[in-house]
Amino acid sequence: MSDLITTTDIDLREEILKLKKEMNAVLLAHYYQESEIQDIADFVGDSLELARKAKFTDADVIIFAGVHFMAETAKILNPNKLVLIPDLEASCSLAEGCPADEFKKFREALPEHVAITYINCTAEVKALSDIICTSSNAEKIINQIPSDKPILFSPDRNLGKFLIKKTGREMLLWEGSCIVHETFSERKILELKVRHPEAKLIAHPECEEPVLLHADFIGSTSQLLKFVQEDSSKSFIVATETGIIHQMKKACPDKIFIPAPPQDESCSCNECPYMKLNTLEKVYLCMKNKFPEIILDEQLRIKALRPIEKMLEMS
Ligand code: 13P
Ligand code: SF4
Repeated sequence: MSDLITTTDIDLREEILKLKKEMNAVLLAHYYQESEIQDIADFVGDSLELARKAKFTDADVIIFAGVHFMAETAKILNPNKLVLIPDLEASCSLAEGCPADEFKKFREALPEHVAITYINCTAEVKALSDIICTSSNAEKIINQIPSDKPILFSPDRNLGKFLIKKTGREMLLWEGSCIVHETFSERKILELKVRHPEAKLIAHPECEEPVLLHADFIGSTSQLLKFVQEDSSKSFIVATETGIIHQMKKACPDKIFIPAPPQDESCSCNECPYMKLNTLEKVYLCMKNKFPEIILDEQLRIKALRPIEKMLEMS
């Protein structure tokens, strides 16, 4: 008989809650996770909030329902805790588009630059950076860099262009992008705006410039969520991954949220294929099997910790 654990006939929610208690575990989930994962999580947040939660948790085990770089950041901050991720393949196009060996050459060619790097990158790239940032705190961090210091911003060129406009700082950009936020079609958004003239367009800064130009508000996932709660409008076109709409609907049940359409409406390209690798079943299995676990070389962890701590100090 096989001793492999299967999930037939199991109430996953109930089992996860039981295991959380037994393991003294905390389940952290990003806003782009499936709604059923968000609903069972101890905390749902954006990448900055999740990094902060990971830093201050007193749980023994962190289950990170998000993508690999997020769980890896939790491990960098918590070397002595067990950090589990439901699916080890949950990557990110930005992290994949910035290999450490190429980033190292980029940096070494420009030694006088401050390297500010978006948290959507690997531990190796973090270790080569001066300061990490997220979309919530990037502007604040850039504004603290002395004006005579040149800046390298990696790896998202769309967020980088947006920040150049916001801060007025020239920055050299790495040419990376998010496959989800680049999928939104300006033409289709404009058609939607004509059909829903009352709806405000809200967008994540990872979107391309033509989409951002039409936005009524631009912000990180948590800033978008806050905006819909505080703004008096009744409907919103949401140009970010559709997972966030779950929290928007919970916070504002009387408002209408319209997902911004991708270029090809026959695909679900406005859903992150990496985030959506995680399922409730995989959350249960990773807790039960204590696998997959995030494991990091200690020397690398120490180097990657420095720019993350700098970010936490500066934001
Ligand atoms: P936030 O920092 O807004 O959560 O964004 C994370 C992300 O991966 C956006 O695509
Ligand atoms: Fe990466 Fe884009 Fe997915 Fe965010 S939505 S995790 S940036 S691929």
